Amino acid sequence: MRLTLRVWRQKSPTDPGRMVQYEARNVSPDMSFLEMLDVVNEELTLKGEDPIAFDSDCREGICGMCGFMINGVAHGPRRGTTVCQLHMRKFKGGDALYLEPWRARAFPVIKDLVVDRSAFDRIIAAGGFISVPAGSAPDGNVILVPKQNAEIAMDAAACIGCGACVAACPNASASLFTGAKITHLGVLPQGQPERYDRVVRMVAQASAELFGSCTNIGECEAVCPKEIKLETIARMNRDFIKASWSTRGGPDTNGAGG
Ligand code: SF4
Ligand code: FES
Repeated sequence: MRLTLRVWRQKSPTDPGRMVQYEARNVSPDMSFLEMLDVVNEELTLKGEDPIAFDSDCREGICGMCGFMINGVAHGPRRGTTVCQLHMRKFKGGDALYLEPWRARAFPVIKDLVVDRSAFDRIIAAGGFISVPAGSAPDGNVILVPKQNAEIAMDAAACIGCGACVAACPNASASLFTGAKITHLGVLPQGQPERYDRVVRMVAQASAELFGSCTNIGECEAVCPKEIKLETIARMNRDFIKASWSTRGGPDTNGAGG
């Protein structure tokens, strides 16, 4: 099949950027979306043109590197699917597809469809870890974890840090990502010693990175390829308020949604 692509081309962070039209020919329904772009890029390279820049690594939905908007939807039209796992059978011959990078102040465009997501790394560095000695794997197994907590932690730990939640949110909030990271440590016994410091530090960092606040719109959950639930945001906010009560003697929700 044949498709028309309108792709955001931006040479550098300071370039104003513009949409450029390309034809994708001989597209097999079995190709992944990124393989289709690889073919377009081969043609561009053979013509001496600059290939379309996009991020990818594992191409099996686990690393979080890929991601851009397809017709205004983060990761495209298939729920619970990264763009590297999206196949061209989801589209029809003759379709016109608009490809754009994640749009958020905290994710500046580096080139074309590639954005700088190092703000996420700084949120993790602010507290998304356990710094008390947790022992080796056998020691970990000595600490019994209630099944329900283990399942909540595992579901939250599925977040791959792709950034689709931020791109889909009208507030460009990082709450789903931050809430997932806080949840996956905060419900396990090993995460308890730093639980409340962690939430304060990570929420403060998210605010400092200029991500917006959560207003419970839910677009993040709808586009998340790992189907992270809004409940993780509720857990983050609850822990943040508890932390504020214990350190300041009263609730302080300032920045709790960041
Ligand atoms: S919460 Fe979902 S959409 Fe957001 S970074 Fe994690 S995996 Fe991606
Ligand atoms: S390339 Fe790794 S998740 Fe898409």
